[in-house]
Amino acid sequence: MMNSDTRLAVLASRVRFEEKQIMAALDRRGVSFVHLDPRSLVVSDDTRQDLTVLNREIGHYRALYAASALESAGAAVLNTAAATHVSGDKWLTTSALMAKGLPTPRTALAMTPEAAHDALDQIGYPAVVKPLVGSWGRLVTAIPDRATAVGILEHVAALPSPQQHIVYVQELVEKADRDIRVLVVGGEALGATYRRGDEWRTNVARGAVSVKCDLTNVHAKLAVAAAEAVGAEIAGVDLLEDADGHLTVLEVNDRVEFRGFQDAHEIDVADVIASYAIARAEA
Ligand SMILES: Nc1ncnc2c1ncn2[C@@H]1O[C@H](COP(=O)(O)OP(=O)(O)O)[C@@H](O)[C@H]1O
Ligand SMILES: [Mg+2]
Repeated sequence: MMNSDTRLAVLASRVRFEEKQIMAALDRRGVSFVHLDPRSLVVSDDTRQDLTVLNREIGHYRALYAASALESAGAAVLNTAAATHVSGDKWLTTSALMAKGLPTPRTALAMTPEAAHDALDQIGYPAVVKPLVGSWGRLVTAIPDRATAVGILEHVAALPSPQQHIVYVQELVEKADRDIRVLVVGGEALGATYRRGDEWRTNVARGAVSVKCDLTNVHAKLAVAAAEAVGAEIAGVDLLEDADGHLTVLEVNDRVEFRGFQDAHEIDVADVIASYAIARAEA
């Protein structure tokens, strides 16, 4: 049980299934917490925040800057702003994984849409281009051949922000109709699910369903190492398995959605996260 002077906050604008469950778990444990809504949050240099903040903000930039500002004001944020910075950006994630020697699909970064043609030639077709920041599979685009790339890269060049002109190019891994999601909390893998879908992007947000996957030692070790590589204490690590059974780390999601995982398992993920946040607040 937490001391009455320990202060915990849940940072979230939209309170979805996951946030509701986490808040309910804190309530069940008799732990008081504040709900910080980033839509009305201002952090200035005279704000002193003796808080442990569980970051559940959906929007990447809002999550990142809120975490950074709260840390400046003295709060401990789960995950840290640094972890959100890396895991929220596909290139920074790839770079962190490669630095630790972890297997990840072959990736090239082109500094302009024009240069992306060379990146695609190096990676080979079919390939995938992705926005550096994004989720739910949005704008993740498979490119079958050079002729298609011409049109897609013209569209990329027409996007408004300079960051969108940095093109992340990746080999298309020939996987089954599924990928593997491993949940990691505090350096431990809780379990895994297959996310299986009709389309090649197996995001639950695109209709994929989560089915229980027996967590092997290999999955667990890889996922824990990937979470650590980006500095995330709480993470959903996506693994791809190619036709030969070879595993790569695709990405690390901080502020992870876990509804599908929780439905597929007996594990009360919200309670695990809540108790982890409590322990961190007391530490
Ligand atoms: N290189 C790839 N090879 C095969 N499938 C991929 C590849 N990249 C992405 N996918 C599929 O698309 C989905 C979304 O891609 P991902 O990189 O995880 O972006 P997001 O952050 O939007 O979820 C993945 O879950 C996977 O099913
Ligand atoms: Mg993903």
